[in-house]
Amino acid sequence: MSELVPVLSQTDIQERVKSLAHEISADYAGKSLVVIGVLKGAFIFLADIVRHMSVPAQIDFVRLASYGADTKSSGKVRLTKDIELDIKEKDVLIVEDIIDSGLTLAFLVEHLQTFNPLSVKVCALIDKIERREKEVAVDYTGFTIESGFLVGYGLDCNEDYRGLPDINNLKL
Ligand code: IMP
Ligand code: MG
Repeated sequence: MSELVPVLSQTDIQERVKSLAHEISADYAGKSLVVIGVLKGAFIFLADIVRHMSVPAQIDFVRLASYGADTKSSGKVRLTKDIELDIKEKDVLIVEDIIDSGLTLAFLVEHLQTFNPLSVKVCALIDKIERREKEVAVDYTGFTIESGFLVGYGLDCNEDYRGLPDINNLKL
């Protein structure tokens, strides 16, 4: 039987999301942003954070796959849905749910750079540091967590648990 151990409450998440949004709004004051969410895991985080931002933002999504049905990265990243907006000479903010090996994010940053944006920064709700293989700069981090497989608030295990309002450690 798998067990869910609470890690971050709804209140913890909402407070942190609000303060990240304020930090981002201050840094980009007077500018506009293209916010790019990484499907599917970041859909709830993105929806929450953009509603607390005071800078104008256009929104787009990419879909990247690296896990298959496993809880460990396969190491191979595939882009299965690209951006649809033109980001040339735009300030881009990637919104990601969780960074584990860093391979997904490193791949995405490199991919977006080919469109010649003005800047690319990264906002991740969770930075899971234990399994980092590729160093990637994370400009805005919600929470730093040592290890564990987390589900809820958009995060899944085999497509389950995304709708949970809080974040839990899934003990298989
Ligand atoms: P990375 O390429 O290893 O950094 O993996 C990043 C992607 O794997 C994230 O976008 C997540 O979708 C997924 N992932 C990594 N760790 C977890 C986790 O603990 N729970 C759910 N998904 C995860
Ligand atoms: Mg995922």
